Amino acid sequence: MIPILPIILGYLLGSIPFGLIITRLGGAGDIRQVGSGNIGATNVLRTGRRGLAAATLLLDGLKGAAAVLAAANCPAWADHHAGLWAGLFAVIGHMFPVWLRFRGGKGVATGLGVALAACWPQGVLMCLIWLVGAKITKISSASALAAFVAAPFLAWIFAGPAHALLALLVTLLVLGRHHANIRRLISGTEPRIGAA
Ligand code: G3P
Repeated sequence: MIPILPIILGYLLGSIPFGLIITRLGGAGDIRQVGSGNIGATNVLRTGRRGLAAATLLLDGLKGAAAVLAAANCPAWADHHAGLWAGLFAVIGHMFPVWLRFRGGKGVATGLGVALAACWPQGVLMCLIWLVGAKITKISSASALAAFVAAPFLAWIFAGPAHALLALLVTLLVLGRHHANIRRLISGTEPRIGAA
């Protein structure tokens, strides 16, 4: 049976557009009018406000982790892979938030938060791939994509098929939301971290 309540919880948590809220509260305007127009931390960094970008990264990650942990630790939902369902829908909520007419972010920070909470060795290795990739390429999308392509394999190794399926679905969603980035990566026009 599909667990409706964990799905609703995950979606509602994931749909909180922290990048938009934080940049507005921080006086940096509407992040959707900046750079790529994305509401994620990479684009918030393009405002030149590192603190706002760090806060966006942290809060977008935390909402993903909170969805997994809250659902997984609710005794009534424990038998239904509730944490995994909530995590998947936290990423979907971030990408398609009802509050922004379903035009949300690309799911990287939220997906990392979900991975850290669902299977911490997988999450830690994804963060490492992302950080090392960013250090080498200086391109946020390229390093994020590398981390998410590795995710289903890491989930399979550390946590088994259910986690691997969650990771695969999240990876497909992240790849889909990065279609414009992938085109720019192929054409060599993807901007480096911090560049407009
Ligand atoms: O976190 C999203 C990142 O991978 C790409 O963001 O703004 O460069 O499209 P952006």
